[in-house]
Amino acid sequence: MRKSKSLFITALIFIAVFFNCKDSKKTMTNSNLDENIEQKVDSVLALMNLEEKIGQLVQYASGGDLTGPESSRGNKEKASKIKKGLVGSLLNVATVKEVREAQELAMQSRIKIPLIFGYDVIHGFKTMFPIPLGESASWDLEIMKQSAKIAAKEAAASGLNWTFAPMLDVARDARWGRVMEGGGEDPYLNAVIGVARIKGFQGEDLSNKNTIAACAKHFAGYGFAEAGREYSTVNIGENELHNTILPPFKAAAKAGVATFMNAFNDIDGIPATGHKILQRDILKEGWNWNGFIVSDWGSIGELVDHGFAKDKKEAAIIALNAGSDMDMESHSYGAHLASLLEENKVSLANLDDAVRRILRVKFQLGLFDNPFKYCDEEREKNEIYTKEHLAIARDVAKKSIVLLKNENNILPISKNVKSIAVIGPFADDKNQPLGNWRAKATYNSAVSLLEGVKEKVDKNTKIYYEKGVELTIPTVKPGDNQFMIPLKMNTEDRSGIAKAVAAAKKAEIVFLAIGEDAYQSGEGRSYTNIGFAGLQNELLEAVYEVNKNIVLVLSNGRPMDISHASEILPGILVTWHLGSESGIAIADVLFGDYNPSGKLPVSFPRNVGQVPLYYNQKNTGRPYSDIHVTYAGYDDSKKTALYPFGFGLSYTSFSYNNLKVDKETINADGKIILSVDVKNTGKVAGEEVVQLYIRDLVASIVRPIKELKGFEKIMLQAGETKTVSFTIDKEVLQFYTSNKKWEVEAGEFLLFVGGNSTTKLKRKITVE
Ligand code: BGC
Repeated sequence: MRKSKSLFITALIFIAVFFNCKDSKKTMTNSNLDENIEQKVDSVLALMNLEEKIGQLVQYASGGDLTGPESSRGNKEKASKIKKGLVGSLLNVATVKEVREAQELAMQSRIKIPLIFGYDVIHGFKTMFPIPLGESASWDLEIMKQSAKIAAKEAAASGLNWTFAPMLDVARDARWGRVMEGGGEDPYLNAVIGVARIKGFQGEDLSNKNTIAACAKHFAGYGFAEAGREYSTVNIGENELHNTILPPFKAAAKAGVATFMNAFNDIDGIPATGHKILQRDILKEGWNWNGFIVSDWGSIGELVDHGFAKDKKEAAIIALNAGSDMDMESHSYGAHLASLLEENKVSLANLDDAVRRILRVKFQLGLFDNPFKYCDEEREKNEIYTKEHLAIARDVAKKSIVLLKNENNILPISKNVKSIAVIGPFADDKNQPLGNWRAKATYNSAVSLLEGVKEKVDKNTKIYYEKGVELTIPTVKPGDNQFMIPLKMNTEDRSGIAKAVAAAKKAEIVFLAIGEDAYQSGEGRSYTNIGFAGLQNELLEAVYEVNKNIVLVLSNGRPMDISHASEILPGILVTWHLGSESGIAIADVLFGDYNPSGKLPVSFPRNVGQVPLYYNQKNTGRPYSDIHVTYAGYDDSKKTALYPFGFGLSYTSFSYNNLKVDKETINADGKIILSVDVKNTGKVAGEEVVQLYIRDLVASIVRPIKELKGFEKIMLQAGETKTVSFTIDKEVLQFYTSNKKWEVEAGEFLLFVGGNSTTKLKRKITVE
């Protein structure tokens, strides 16, 4: 009897798999379900018992040996659950060997539903690209897509099929460590970058062996943690939610992102993980999105810590009803959903909906075709960290650098300069450039600044290298993961400063590599001091005493307070944490092999007291204190940014002329073409990011003084002029109005164009 039942099940799966082989080469779009996949999902769902359905909603972290002699008790338990079909996904398993081992266990389960394997592939897998905030400074959507594509290819070659990226949290508070992980302070920029990254990860066809499922996170509001305190509460109203926080997520849903992750925070008292309006009403129903939502790590269980559920059982009710489909590591669904169904506290319909969503993504990935399709040792050996990938990483890195100051054209410097001092804790650091969330990067594998400089200069150029100070006192062994382990700053050992001063004295120019450790930003890394930690200020002052010819090469994962340095130093390059090819990419810019083209995706504040600081503030009843007017907004500080959003210099200069509209009045469905002539007025070729901002002058709710609505990055030869056009239509002019709808309201709008968010070049239009 038993045997014949299992044969029957196998036959049904075979039928599902057979059809899938033929027709699964399609990526779902949000509103467009693939009939074929739906039928297969239904056929598998019909085979599943309650335990197996709940199992699909369970995600465990794992790593290491699941079944062999080294296997821990925890891993053995997980292995036995996988074999019983009680686990739907694993995270943090990331080699072909480990993935294969786990998938083999899943294939021993009754109906053999493959596991999906997730990992934080945030800015590269082994070939590291700039941290997402850095990459966003390139304003180059094509290269961001490209870097996500390579990250996906390497992850897929290592057995993975799902990344927990991109992070789409609009982030305006430099104290918040996770600023590094997203696209900065602007909703539009986050949206278009998010879509580019999703397309890079997922490609045209999720079932392709080189593509993986992406995850739009954290839904929603996490970037607005009060005072930048990690995991803190979020107090925002409907206007902020719809007009600022949700647009990148809406764009991601529209682009067909396979999964979403919810968030740790509450919004106005409702934890995101238990937020039905957000997850069910807005995302799943409102946006007609058909992927699945994974909780953030433990966030279902944390409903108890929020004081929103009395225990994990109640948390499971709230989260499932709210639309959280998969439980990452809180062990609430696995433990309680069966009894909750019996007690009628959760509905079978909600359970089935979650299972269906998860199965759908597994079908789209082609995992039912071949559960081991990502398990290819040859690919793992040959397709990761290749020369080709590194070359692209270098390209992305150089395009992500932002030149903030270049007094008297101190840069670029000649390759046969007589002498250079390369000074600072990051001057010869091969580890920091790899950044936080570095997936499988090899410790100490980046090109250091010193190495990059050495590769560029003439053989007669003298290079003096001195560290000057250690920024931190090690708290982990070299190579161990510093994730979540507090850093200890060095505040005492000054023994290297004298040597750094001696080096600076001998050199024509100093490259001063200071800033932030890779682990000063990222999850759990909120700081109240966003200036130079440890003894770096002392180093700067001491070096400056003897040599004023200094270029600050800033390492950073957030907008830092660099006010003092900016006042006294002639050159400043923002180099973020640039990834594997960091040093050589920086050297490309320092020596003029690449003309910098990056623009800030976040405002750089004058001091920590100004944050949260962002260009697209709402207008106030006292508009003369508008952030773009140099009024003192504080008694002790200006209100303006030190370096505004969208700002970045080039080795050439650009002028904007002849801004015009093809008509001045339209109705709400109309369209205006705005055009401008951009000229390279300098002596070398260069790229400019031409930015479009709008301002809605009178509206049913107070609107921002400026909002980015478009941009184009163009290359201009010296003396060349190009006309850039933008279409002004409903997409650009609409917002979430007091009617709680996306609408264009009649009235006057200003259209601004320029090279950064402070541009004053504008035209007025009217919507009738
Ligand atoms: C983070 C997520 C991440 C998850 C899995 C959580 O702590 O907030 O962004 O994807 O861990 O590593």
